[in-house]
Amino acid sequence: MDPYSLRFTHNLLLFLYLIALLSTCVASQSFANPAWAPLAVRSPYLSCWNNASSPLSAVPSFWNQAGATLGWTGMIRVDGVAYQWMGGNTLGFRNPTVLGLEITPTRTIYRFQAGSTMQINVTYLTPIETEDMVKQSIPFSYFYLDAVSADGQPHEVQAYVDITGEWVSGDRGANISWTTTTTGISTFHEISLSEPAQYQEVADQAQDATVYLATLSGTGSSAVPAVNYLVPSRMDFNNSGVVTNANLGNSGPMNGSSTNPWPVFSVSADLGRIVQTPQDQPLVWAIGVVRNPSISYTTATGAVQDRAPYFLVKYPNIESVIDAFLGDFSNSTNRAIALDAQILADAAKISPTYSTLVSTAVRQTIAGIEVTVSKGSDGQWNTSDVKMFMKDVGTSGRVNPVEILYASFPFFLYINPAYAALLLEPLLEYQSSPQYTQPYAATDLGTSYPKAHGNNGAHSQGIEQSANMLIMVLAHALVSGDGTLISRYYTTLRTWTSYLIPTISNPGQQFTADPQLVTNSPNLLLKGIIGVQAMAKIGSLLVRDDDTSAFTNYSQSLMQMWKSSAISSDGTHILETYGGNQSSWSLPYNLYADKLLQTNLVDNALYSAETSFLNKLSNVTTSSATPFGVPVDPSNTQGNAAWTLMTAAIVTDPGVRDDLVRPVQQQIASKIAGFPYSRVYYVDSGDVVSGRASPALGAFFAPLALSLPFKSVTIPPTPPAASTASTTKKSIVGPAVGGVLGGLALLILAAAFWWYWRRRNSPGDRGHSDATVSAIFKASRSNAGAVEATDLHTIHFHQNNEYK
Ligand SMILES: *[C@@H]1O[C@H](CO)[C@@H](O)[C@H](O)[C@H]1NC(C)=O
Ligand SMILES: *[C@@H]1O[C@H](CO)[C@@H](O)[C@H](O)[C@H]1NC(C)=O
Ligand SMILES: *[C@@H]1O[C@H](CO)[C@@H](O)[C@H](O)[C@H]1NC(C)=O
Ligand SMILES: *[C@@H]1O[C@H](CO)[C@@H](O)[C@H](O)[C@H]1NC(C)=O
Ligand SMILES: *[C@@H]1O[C@H](CO)[C@@H](O)[C@H](O)[C@H]1NC(C)=O
Ligand SMILES: *[C@@H]1O[C@H](CO)[C@@H](O)[C@H](O)[C@H]1NC(C)=O
Ligand SMILES: *[C@@H]1O[C@H](CO)[C@@H](O)[C@H](O)[C@H]1NC(C)=O
Ligand SMILES: *[C@@H]1O[C@H](CO)[C@@H](O)[C@H](O)[C@H]1NC(C)=O
Ligand SMILES: *[C@@H]1O[C@H](CO)[C@@H](O)[C@H](O)[C@H]1NC(C)=O
Ligand SMILES: *[C@@H]1O[C@H](CO)[C@@H](O)[C@H](O)[C@H]1NC(C)=O
Repeated sequence: MDPYSLRFTHNLLLFLYLIALLSTCVASQSFANPAWAPLAVRSPYLSCWNNASSPLSAVPSFWNQAGATLGWTGMIRVDGVAYQWMGGNTLGFRNPTVLGLEITPTRTIYRFQAGSTMQINVTYLTPIETEDMVKQSIPFSYFYLDAVSADGQPHEVQAYVDITGEWVSGDRGANISWTTTTTGISTFHEISLSEPAQYQEVADQAQDATVYLATLSGTGSSAVPAVNYLVPSRMDFNNSGVVTNANLGNSGPMNGSSTNPWPVFSVSADLGRIVQTPQDQPLVWAIGVVRNPSISYTTATGAVQDRAPYFLVKYPNIESVIDAFLGDFSNSTNRAIALDAQILADAAKISPTYSTLVSTAVRQTIAGIEVTVSKGSDGQWNTSDVKMFMKDVGTSGRVNPVEILYASFPFFLYINPAYAALLLEPLLEYQSSPQYTQPYAATDLGTSYPKAHGNNGAHSQGIEQSANMLIMVLAHALVSGDGTLISRYYTTLRTWTSYLIPTISNPGQQFTADPQLVTNSPNLLLKGIIGVQAMAKIGSLLVRDDDTSAFTNYSQSLMQMWKSSAISSDGTHILETYGGNQSSWSLPYNLYADKLLQTNLVDNALYSAETSFLNKLSNVTTSSATPFGVPVDPSNTQGNAAWTLMTAAIVTDPGVRDDLVRPVQQQIASKIAGFPYSRVYYVDSGDVVSGRASPALGAFFAPLALSLPFKSVTIPPTPPAASTASTTKKSIVGPAVGGVLGGLALLILAAAFWWYWRRRNSPGDRGHSDATVSAIFKASRSNAGAVEATDLHTIHFHQNNEYK
């Protein structure tokens, strides 16, 4: 039996089971704490988590959990008795009692009681700097400790933290090198691989990272750094409150020797006799994973460029950035508390159920990205060339994965739409360069982060990815009021639209970016049509009236066609397959784009009908059979947290919305799954399929992004590429849409396009076509002088017209 029919049988059984449970009324479950707690989650390579329910016995680990513990310990010693509050207590020290855990968007806060003497709070704070890219680009996270005497008496208090070299590489047998530095302000350990490998990874960890454990020199009496092996280091602290610096030299195996495994890098501090740590002056540490360069990027001219972390524009070396980061602690904490309050208040306006969910998405979404800068021709940092890159953390490791970026987009629109633009720009720049020759949008900028060398491969997600790009670019313009991208890349966007129109009417074998079993799903085609209408809006913002009316006509006509085959004959729901099985269905998450952009392509009646339909489905699926929600379609047993939240954002009934949200929380709180906070999981077991710690969970902000006001869009004065104006008239849209456009005309047009693309993609035609194109490109470049990004695809369309 092939896997497809196997899955089909499984699904059939599941479906029958669901039917049997239809009448069961399911009690709603309240949201427990997440099963995992983010500790330091700030970049694709600084992503440390811990089992939330056993913070004392579990060793924190890298997000992928592939045996990848990250040695990290914290202890406090009160009147000579040591308590270990983090890091896998193998030596048998006392543990404090866990009094509570709170997870906010930026912070994970544990409350402990150490014996009868001290209450301590340990806070892991990952700053989200919405207004300051220098600060956002600093790949450090804070953790800090507040203590207060439980019996009102003063006590002798010392504190200790250490890390192993595991933070430096996924290769646990590698050799590492280290140094310890004290500036006037801070004290820090610096650890790296003895033989780093630029832009390489082992088990998702970087092979070119330098890891820092830092603290203010003057905290408490003063910070004492030490390097020793794990057992003697922690025993020393337990026995005397201070660690002997063993003479280990400056390098050695990460895992030490068989007699003395694991060198650890520690700092301890003696707080003296205290009743409490002073207000606003907790004991603060910072942990960082720094890479420079961060990204290898292929520019529009085809040159390969090393891009650096953006904080270097302000801080020339690591000492200065560590001093600044530790010095900014108090203000940074205040900003974090304010941001938490704002996010939670906005989310609470949607619903209490929803507001408990948003906190889990924030850190991992923004940790999927890095902010970079290039060096200009003058050798200085070029602050007009800032780019952000996203890693497909948890799934594929691709660079700027378009469908993941699309999923995360509500978060970026909400938090700062300028960040959204910086993520889109590298994709647009590359695809407007001569290196890119596909008529549809690329899936990503490269298959292995951090190498952003472009991806010119042919693929069958042309509708999905072109529409994703069009929708994101327009959403950014409307929410930010910044028309730079739509104006600078108009030609490229228009090319994708011209690809979408015939392809939607005659799609061949088009897939979504998810491994779904069906092709050409109505849900997918809907996204394509919304993409066409997005281009009509983009045209109107740029006062390209011909384009606007043409693309509006197309999207309307395509919508008519779509309605006749996409919706069940009783009008209750969108089908799984186009014109297919009436009892099939699809999670209609692409309706979200219609709402986000206010394209109004879809009738309100369909939103209401889908809401009722989803109400029935989610009533069934939150039953004991599939407590983790509604799968993306009935051919699937997999649910997608991002698409579920986009769907929840568009239903017309708040109760149904919360019914969709609850199972997603259930998965995150699940103790069964290998790792929660995941993008795709089985709806019956909650077990993870893919997307651990994925930035796609930015989709949890889908309901919030819908209430962002639109701004009036400012188009920058610089005219777009000179070639655009001259190609507008000649392109396919103008002449072909001249008459009244009925379904028949559309079909003829689709057939013409289809013929053209087949011809263009046939091997014989290809070489000739490319040669012609590059000749035209060269000519137009030299003629136009300042042409910035001549669009090849529009030139292809010229040829198309010429063929006809
Ligand atoms: C977390 O720790 C608890 C208690 O030790 C354990 O039961 C649970 O299985 C752990 N969860 C995961 C996801 O490892
Ligand atoms: C710990 O946090 C709790 C809850 O926010 C607070 O009431 C308590 O005062 C804090 N304790 C310390 C030692 O800061
Ligand atoms: C350290 O790693 C190396 C290489 O993987 C391995 O051969 C050795 O046994 C390990 N040593 C210890 C003490 O775990
Ligand atoms: C680590 O360094 C030692 C001493 O230089 C060397 O013998 C050994 O091969 C190195 N191990 C690795 C994994 O590179
Ligand atoms: C920690 O220190 C205490 C008192 O100094 C001692 O009694 C205890 O055995 C030590 N713990 C371990 C695990 O060595
Ligand atoms: C913290 O904020 C205050 C008030 O805005 C400001 O005066 C101070 O310079 C800031 N400190 C740092 C280190 O940025
Ligand atoms: C800085 O970057 C911008 C945008 O890429 C570019 O136009 C400019 O030439 C660069 N400046 C220098 C000095 O290289
Ligand atoms: C769009 O359709 C309307 C009527 O349906 C027609 O008047 C108009 O000319 C069309 N626009 C274009 C650019 O084809
Ligand atoms: C129609 O779809 C439903 C739900 O996916 C499925 O159970 C049923 O077997 C399908 N019928 C046919 C004829 O494929
Ligand atoms: C879904 O379940 C709720 C109670 O959990 C019930 O009020 C509602 O009527 C159910 N809806 C349908 C369509 O079965």
